[in-house]
Amino acid sequence: MCGITGYAGYKEAAPVLLDALKKLEYRGYDSAGIAVLAAQPLENSPSGNRLFVRKAKGPLSVLSERLSHETVAGTLGIGHTRWATHGEPSDVNSHPHTDVSGRIAVVHNGIIENYARLKEWLQARDVVFLSDTDTEVIAHLINYYYKPESGGGLLGAVLETLKRLEGSYALAVVSSDFPDRLIAARKDSPLIVGLGQGENLIASDVTALLAHTREVCFLEDREVAVLYRDHVDLFTGQGEKIIRAPTHVDWDVEAAEKGGYAHFMLKEIHEQAKALADTLRPRLKETTTGRDISLDEIKLGDNWAAAPRVVITACGTAWHAAMVGKYAFEHFARLPVEVDIASEYRYRNPVTNPDDLFIVISQSGETADTLAAMRLAKKSGARILAVTNVVGSTLAREADLSLYTWAGPEIAVASTKAFTTQLMCIYLLALKLGKLRSRITDADYARYLKALAKIPEQAAAVLAKQELIQKFAARHFNKGKVFFMGRQFDYAVSLESALKLKEISYTHSEAFAAGELKHGPIALVDTNTLVVAIATQTALFDKIASNIREVTSRGAASLVITWEGESAFAAIADEVFTIPKTEDCLSPLLSIIPAQLFAYYCAVQRGNDPDKPRNLAKSVTVE
Ligand code: M6R
Repeated sequence: MCGITGYAGYKEAAPVLLDALKKLEYRGYDSAGIAVLAAQPLENSPSGNRLFVRKAKGPLSVLSERLSHETVAGTLGIGHTRWATHGEPSDVNSHPHTDVSGRIAVVHNGIIENYARLKEWLQARDVVFLSDTDTEVIAHLINYYYKPESGGGLLGAVLETLKRLEGSYALAVVSSDFPDRLIAARKDSPLIVGLGQGENLIASDVTALLAHTREVCFLEDREVAVLYRDHVDLFTGQGEKIIRAPTHVDWDVEAAEKGGYAHFMLKEIHEQAKALADTLRPRLKETTTGRDISLDEIKLGDNWAAAPRVVITACGTAWHAAMVGKYAFEHFARLPVEVDIASEYRYRNPVTNPDDLFIVISQSGETADTLAAMRLAKKSGARILAVTNVVGSTLAREADLSLYTWAGPEIAVASTKAFTTQLMCIYLLALKLGKLRSRITDADYARYLKALAKIPEQAAAVLAKQELIQKFAARHFNKGKVFFMGRQFDYAVSLESALKLKEISYTHSEAFAAGELKHGPIALVDTNTLVVAIATQTALFDKIASNIREVTSRGAASLVITWEGESAFAAIADEVFTIPKTEDCLSPLLSIIPAQLFAYYCAVQRGNDPDKPRNLAKSVTVE
């Protein structure tokens, strides 16, 4: 997730762009840049080019500081604040990216899934690339299609380029040949046009526009906008003109930053359908023999496939993703798996072998215990595979290979979209290893990939029913104790559900492997207890049904999270929340969502700020 902006008006563009980027910085902050069309040809440009580009690694303040020593005259420009996905944070990987002629500059939010193929295609035409980003192909493609000598305009070149892009984009383009306009386009990434008085703007979210206007046009997928200072033209991807009345937005700035949601946590819960799609789709390939998983970025060759054992370590929510990983690697790849809490692993005397596949999971990539565990494993000669959300984090830099979750920045302390995207990476790895190790039949592999491909839309369907959970939370938020229970994959999800609830609602909540109830925890159950049973493992329905009866007969209230169309629990639970049917072994990707919503609404009912729970920090970089 990055933030983009653009300005065409009568004011100096640079301060307007920097101000907008400040509002967008929550979307990414590992580098920032602007391109401004200077009013006069630049002195140091041999071609008299007017395109002034400055970009810098680090937060926006680094760029602002640099620009404070320069004069940037020009009333049209584009800007970007980056959350790295392709290519580590660096000056050269920062946006804007320019084409070989230096006339065209592009900023982009999204992922160009076919960039590697496009890059090869352009390289075969002698285009030299400067960065490791997917975005740079866009600048070069526009230049390729841009033929001013034959009357071909910038808009035509952008439209031709868009036809070749697979994946998601919100992008803005300027060219020194057209100092009066900027072109913007979107597909699967947000982009809003702000309509001002003598000035027009674009931004990834409304927040960045509110200082200038409250009249906006929300661009739809595959639409293109051409902004001039006095008007805006909208086009379809085929270049046909569109007429659309603007929308008036009343949001205050704080609400706008959260996309209209009351809290970042709720926004991030709702971003999961897209984050799951972003993490999955570039890695799911259609081949001539059917669907396959492509993990080119980690070159999962024979060495890794031959590993006799998987070891996974992590903290908190990431450790719960590791717990799901244990079941997934056993199920799909028939590999023995050891899962360890990083703070435990680092202080015991663990047996780690050089041929182990050692996976470290961390949203931030900066958690002190996780880094210490990874360094200890490295000393044993183990090869480290990081699953992380932050390109260029310490974990990503020190691990042998990194598989990124493409969730975008997570602001709320309680992890939500990071968890589900970690699960997605783990499933992709486990399935791919299962295939490489011939532990999974072609038919099963195809079936699982088909199910995986549906997960983003199924997640959206779960989110659409959030009101049911909101109402349930309104009735039960004051319970003294909330226990989550489940078996196997459902047990792992119970652990994460209990953590979510305790960290933001401050309710005493625990997770139990349902079979363990009778070995002790059932002594805690009374009429002040809510038990949430996660029941998606069809073969174990009878077992979990008995467990539910055991707690309800002792006065506990109960909620069951199970499959749509499942009637096994209707008569025995107080309430049943259903999720769309997928493979039992993929259920955590969906079953955690109602539990996240339940935690969120309990916290709100109790008057807590879910984004900033007491005593907790987003990233625990000290012991
Ligand atoms: O950045 P990491 O994934 O390494 O963070 C690990 C934990 O600190 C983190 O998951 C924590 O448990 C969250 N507050 C959970 O919501």
